[in-house]
Amino acid sequence: MQEKKEQQELEHLRESLDQITMYRKVTIWLAVLIVLGYGIYIAATFSGTEAHVLEWMNLVFRWAHVILGISWIGASFYFIFLENSLNRTENLRDELAGNLWAIHGGGFYYVEKYKVAPEKIPQHLHWFKYEAYFTWLTGCILLVLVYYINAKSVLVDPAVSDISPLNAILLSVGTLVAGWFCYDFLCKTKLLEKKKTFALTGFSIVILISFFLSQFLSGRAAFMHVGALLGTIMAGNVFFTIIPSQKALVKAAKLGLPLDPTLGKTAGLRSLHNNYITLPVIFIMISGHFPTTYGNAFNWAVLAGLTLASVAVRHYINLYEKGRNAFWILPFSFIALISLVIVTAPKKTEIGGEPASFTEVSAVIQKRCQSCHAQKPSDPEHATAAGGVILESPDQIRNMADRIMVRVVQTKTMPQGNKTEITEEERELLGRWISQGSVLNQ
Ligand code: HEC
Repeated sequence: MQEKKEQQELEHLRESLDQITMYRKVTIWLAVLIVLGYGIYIAATFSGTEAHVLEWMNLVFRWAHVILGISWIGASFYFIFLENSLNRTENLRDELAGNLWAIHGGGFYYVEKYKVAPEKIPQHLHWFKYEAYFTWLTGCILLVLVYYINAKSVLVDPAVSDISPLNAILLSVGTLVAGWFCYDFLCKTKLLEKKKTFALTGFSIVILISFFLSQFLSGRAAFMHVGALLGTIMAGNVFFTIIPSQKALVKAAKLGLPLDPTLGKTAGLRSLHNNYITLPVIFIMISGHFPTTYGNAFNWAVLAGLTLASVAVRHYINLYEKGRNAFWILPFSFIALISLVIVTAPKKTEIGGEPASFTEVSAVIQKRCQSCHAQKPSDPEHATAAGGVILESPDQIRNMADRIMVRVVQTKTMPQGNKTEITEEERELLGRWISQGSVLNQ
């Protein structure tokens, strides 16, 4: 009895020590980051190379974000596969829930899952958590680098609302914080156990939030913030629920105390949420390449459709891994996808009207586009031609005609944030010129 108490106290002490070491590490890292960031800011400002430095920082953090995200999601997909595919019946020792043989990279692997915990917790126990934390952290840094620093042209869009860049940033931070608390609150109610109702409620709230954001932020930023919120929920699940539950399990196992079964269950459900959220989040992360989706007047509905279709695919995969082939789900996703292709199709641009002259078109491009799309842009946010697109010579403009049609006329996602204040008449002129065959020399 006495011994057990001492052991418990020792464990307590060790835990507190671990925590202090962790806080110290985090503080040191934060301080280093802040000093480094400030140093880079001063150096870039003094040398007048802000845009260039920003582009490289964007590159480095985006690169890291993608690598970390792949490690996180890859491991998480692997464990879901493992859980779904375990042999749970044949030749199992009593203490095992299942096992699995696999071959990968020329090696044979054999994995065993315990029903609860092994009798003795091994000294070297691998935890999967830093991938999640650092994916989230690099994501936050990117949010600042891409959306906050150039808030005026990227976060807001005067065609959407006249919200100030500062208020848009506050809205951004507020959405992430409030969104997490709202989700966490829902998880603490009885709803968590009712999987279908929870999924339906969660989906409706996400769509409401995306509708709300689409009324204030640029289409691209509205999408990215839904993604950032879902990503925050996923990382929050790891940090606030899954890892603490695992710690409690390990501690109880070490002390030989009875394990609280609700801990594993709650962590499991949150992990399941992460699993379903993954596919829509990954779409959102690449959505910046697809103005047809975020540039649509009903972009929130397009996002809802893609979310539904991709969550259904994830559901199919989960069932398939468990040995159930619910093939009827796939046509549902396919039909949803085809419907989206049809409803987002651009309206036919009228070919009629006055023949558009290239001289006028060229004047519009010069006035509204060249500040960003030139060999040497005058826009201070761009060190080189924005998006690699140069619109200076007549040929360059003609070669880009199809994309100009999509970006300027159909989705109105260029000029970015309408920074150069293009008018509706000018958009119409460009559309007319392109639909008449983009003829030069007129
Ligand atoms: C404030 C800066 C800015 C202005 C002004 C601007 N653009 Fe862009 N443009 C960008 C950036 C940044 C990208 C790359 C990111 C993206 O594609 O959204 C880009 C990308 C593009 C692309 C290539 C992307 C694709 O979808 O193929 C085209 C075409 C384009 N712009 C056309 C125009 C035209 C035409 C105008 C003028 C009517 C214009 N832009 C004005 C910043 C600008």
